[in-house]
Amino acid sequence: MSTLHVIDHPLIVHKLSIMRNKKTGSKDFRELLNEIAMLMGYELTRDLPLEDIVIETPVSKMTAKKISGKKLAIVPILRAGLGMVDGLQTLVPVAKVGHIGLYRDPDTHKPVEYYCKLPLDIEERTVILVDPMLATGGSAVDALTMLKNKGCKDIRFMCLVAAPEGVKAVQEAHPDIDIFTAALDEKLNEHAYIVPGLGDAGDRIFGTI
Ligand code: PRP
Ligand code: URA
Repeated sequence: MSTLHVIDHPLIVHKLSIMRNKKTGSKDFRELLNEIAMLMGYELTRDLPLEDIVIETPVSKMTAKKISGKKLAIVPILRAGLGMVDGLQTLVPVAKVGHIGLYRDPDTHKPVEYYCKLPLDIEERTVILVDPMLATGGSAVDALTMLKNKGCKDIRFMCLVAAPEGVKAVQEAHPDIDIFTAALDEKLNEHAYIVPGLGDAGDRIFGTI
């Protein structure tokens, strides 16, 4: 069964509270989202394997450690997932970036696919799928299916705010995928928005409100 990791470090909780406030503008919202993505990325990459490497310090030879050959890919779900890419790439500058374009139909709330461009060797990589909002879970479920259809075997999903409904949907459809979130909120409203949430993440990032 997939595990839900709620990464509620005080720095993350504090930054997320500022993001939730409707008075926070796009510039601060974007900066905070990237900062949180970086802090969460630290936890998400905790199990990356290390291997020995012999180096010389100015004082002596030593057997040190480096991250072993495993390669990473960051895959944002457009648009809002883009807001988490820079933060993660600061941690892992060599990670390749793929893009999955999905939008929620305003009436049915079901995801509609409009774009998919992934690194050619995506199936060999550890993939971090990112989207700030896990609401009904439809977008994450479809994006995970698309990645698996391309051969990806090692995938983790990272969001900022999750609703219980979305967590359940992902866990039912993809029981092998771990979910990392900064907060687990109360519920969805009648428009399938997360309550209390932070509103429409894409609009707040790109100022399209
Ligand atoms: C938002 C969000 C997720 C999706 C979550 O995207 O960024 O992708 O909704 O909802 P779900 O869990 O119910 O699928 P949206 O469709 O608003 O597109 P945007 O990022 O382009 O604004
Ligand atoms: N998408 C968002 O951006 N916010 C929500 O609360 C739900 C879906």
